[in-house]
Amino acid sequence: MSVIALCSAKGSPGVTLAGQVLASVWPRPVALVDADPAGGDILWRCRTPQGGPLNPDHGLLSLAAAARRDADETNLSEHLQQTNLGQSVLVGLSSQEQLTGLGSVWTQLPSLLARHTEDVLVDCGQLSAGSAALPVIHKADAVLVVVRPDMEGVAHLRSRLFQFGKSLRMGDADGTPVLIAVATTYRDTQSATHLQQLLDSEGIPARVVGVFAEDAKGAGIFTSTRAGAPGRTLLARSARVIAQALVSVPSVEQRIGMV
Ligand SMILES: Nc1ncnc2c1ncn2[C@@H]1O[C@H](COP(=O)(O)OP(=O)(O)OP(=O)(O)O)[C@@H](O)[C@H]1O
Ligand SMILES: [Mg+2]
Repeated sequence: MSVIALCSAKGSPGVTLAGQVLASVWPRPVALVDADPAGGDILWRCRTPQGGPLNPDHGLLSLAAAARRDADETNLSEHLQQTNLGQSVLVGLSSQEQLTGLGSVWTQLPSLLARHTEDVLVDCGQLSAGSAALPVIHKADAVLVVVRPDMEGVAHLRSRLFQFGKSLRMGDADGTPVLIAVATTYRDTQSATHLQQLLDSEGIPARVVGVFAEDAKGAGIFTSTRAGAPGRTLLARSARVIAQALVSVPSVEQRIGMV
């Protein structure tokens, strides 16, 4: 059972979509949690199995209310909704204004997620100082940063990894592994290798694990604007490699045992 935090360094490289695609190809039962403090997108993108909208009040908000009443008795599973793509999702905030009402749930979230009985993929939005999702990122079994391989994308990635390298204890045997997924065209066979070389040359202990293919048709299927088989999209095929790398990362408990 692992908790994987998904985030961006800056911009919108496709973190939320990456979470949706990873959840659909994940080799074990998994829940997708929308914990982007800037406001969630899962609510707007996913449909119920009957094709209707998801319930905006049954998700992070209801989880926070339950945790305020009794955190020990609160279970993530009671706040998940099923989607037409067969996924279990925790819908996030409908707007950033709801953030203030959530209170202590951000500090309780890591343990609520960790005791879930399935793997959890958490969309944490942008990795930045002051993000309410930092407790989740710091306690995750692994962090996956999605990045575009252009100059700005790589520059912001470097600066975020330098900024958070210490608090994540990146590179320590029992620190948090940071994995990188490059958002680019499937024809781009170079960017992932170049990025890994750059990180290595700067002594940044992060591992590039694959590419999320640019795939407008596939994105349409995952965002409910297009019909089709999600599993056969280019996006899903590219995500399988990344999912495999993520499930192979030892959990926090296993890493502590190894030290
Ligand atoms: N691999 C991809 N191929 C095609 N379109 C994509 C891909 N990834 C993302 N998109 C599209 O780009 C837009 C932004 O994607 P997404 O919302 O997943 O990014 P994000 O990083 O989560 O952004 P935000 O910072 O707003 O949360 C969406 O319209 C999505 O459909
Ligand atoms: Mg997003």
